[in-house]
Amino acid sequence: MKQAVLSLFVAGAVAFPWVAEQPGVDSSLFKQRRANYRRQQTGEGAGGPSTCPFNANHVPAPGITAEYPYNNAKNGQMGNQKGGYQVPANGDTAHYYVAPGPNDIRGPCPGLNAAANHNFLAHDGITTYNELVDAQQNLYNVGYDLANLLAVLGLITTDGDIVTEKLSIGCDATTRTSINPTLTGSEPGLDGHNKFEADSSLTRNDFFLDNGDDFTFNGTLFGMMDATTGGNFDRAGLSTYRYQRWHQSQIENPNFEFGPLTLLLYGAASFLYELMPNGNHGYAPDLETISSFFGAEKQSDGTWGFVHEKIPASWTNRVAPYTNNDVTNEIVAMYLENPVLFGGNTASGAFDTISFGAIKDGAISPSINAADTSCLLYQLTTANIPGYANSAVTPTVDALSFALEKLSPSFKNLGCPIPLTK
Ligand code: HEM
Ligand SMILES: *[C@@H]1O[C@H](CO)[C@@H](O)[C@H](O)[C@H]1NC(C)=O
Repeated sequence: MKQAVLSLFVAGAVAFPWVAEQPGVDSSLFKQRRANYRRQQTGEGAGGPSTCPFNANHVPAPGITAEYPYNNAKNGQMGNQKGGYQVPANGDTAHYYVAPGPNDIRGPCPGLNAAANHNFLAHDGITTYNELVDAQQNLYNVGYDLANLLAVLGLITTDGDIVTEKLSIGCDATTRTSINPTLTGSEPGLDGHNKFEADSSLTRNDFFLDNGDDFTFNGTLFGMMDATTGGNFDRAGLSTYRYQRWHQSQIENPNFEFGPLTLLLYGAASFLYELMPNGNHGYAPDLETISSFFGAEKQSDGTWGFVHEKIPASWTNRVAPYTNNDVTNEIVAMYLENPVLFGGNTASGAFDTISFGAIKDGAISPSINAADTSCLLYQLTTANIPGYANSAVTPTVDALSFALEKLSPSFKNLGCPIPLTK
């Protein structure tokens, strides 16, 4: 809504594009839903602008050099797409670990927090689209298609700014990300709830269970994940753990919502065994590696404390790029090992299911075909995503054009439905 104003400002008047009969979109999604809980960030409290750190000295990420080229990814362009090297390289002091200070923003994503702590993203946590695309390639060897897809999702689902292309990796820093706060309204950053951030996270509390703190590391949850997966954070273990977390949220959180964007949580869970493993540990997703990336430290009493996210010592990244196809296959496989329903708790106490793309009546079919799998995440960037009161994500014309510009030609190559922009 707020970006409709911006749309006049930057792009002139364009017809509103949303058509319920768009391929893959079920028109029943557009009916009014009855739950009346408030499910989004209010702007006050945890994650809001009043408590968000302010670093007057914003220093962009230093980027790569000829001496330490990593994947040779810069300016948002495609790099070598070839990993298997150590990060940070010995001697590359620009990317050595520096703990975040009180003025630095960190958020719900351990992968990006670690990247900021190592200056692959701006250390203050106010990053840009290009920094995100470069960092994911240089640090983790995320494929170029997926690096763009995640950056688009980060930017548009959280109301990051499509003009400045800036985004806070945590709390609401609208005064620094927005082209003009009066025109854009608030830009909640990655802490923004029911967008990329959602309920039943691996190690973060549900938004409504902790007064809006959906981003702080929770050591009890990390311990549960370790116990459930037996210290081996593989697909089978994480599938079981995600299933447990769904049930926990469904029972404990009256506002529990598990919408289409929670597909991303399965993707994030796959990062533990696909992006984080260390070549010097035979690429095993072991506890030493995972705890370092999560900033988890075992205390003498056996509980887990927090010490900031850090790339493990002599860490070597994955050899082949992790692509959109790879992650969507993992999402579907992890989901199908322990299926749960997409939807949300309602005021009456019932769980109401949702349909969207490959999700029919709350479930993904085991017979989902390859094309629907490939398009799963692209649909999240361009479609009108259903949700409960206030939580539906409706990209504006500008957000949609932004997504299409950044993501083509991958969309077309995969044969995914392309929404209308005019
Ligand atoms: C532009 C790229 C990225 C964006 C915008 C992003 C954003 C996010 C957000 C908003 C969450 C919170 C989801 C939730 O509610 O649980 C999250 C979780 C997570 N992300 Fe990222 N992320 C990105 C890339 C990465 C990368 C490259 C890695 C791994 C190396 C990573 C690892 C994770 C993990 C493991 C979680 C789950 C944390 C938990 O639930 O405890 N992310 N990410
Ligand atoms: C951490 O998570 C557990 C399990 O959900 C919860 O009982 C506990 O209150 C959380 N701790 C904090 C500090 O929020």
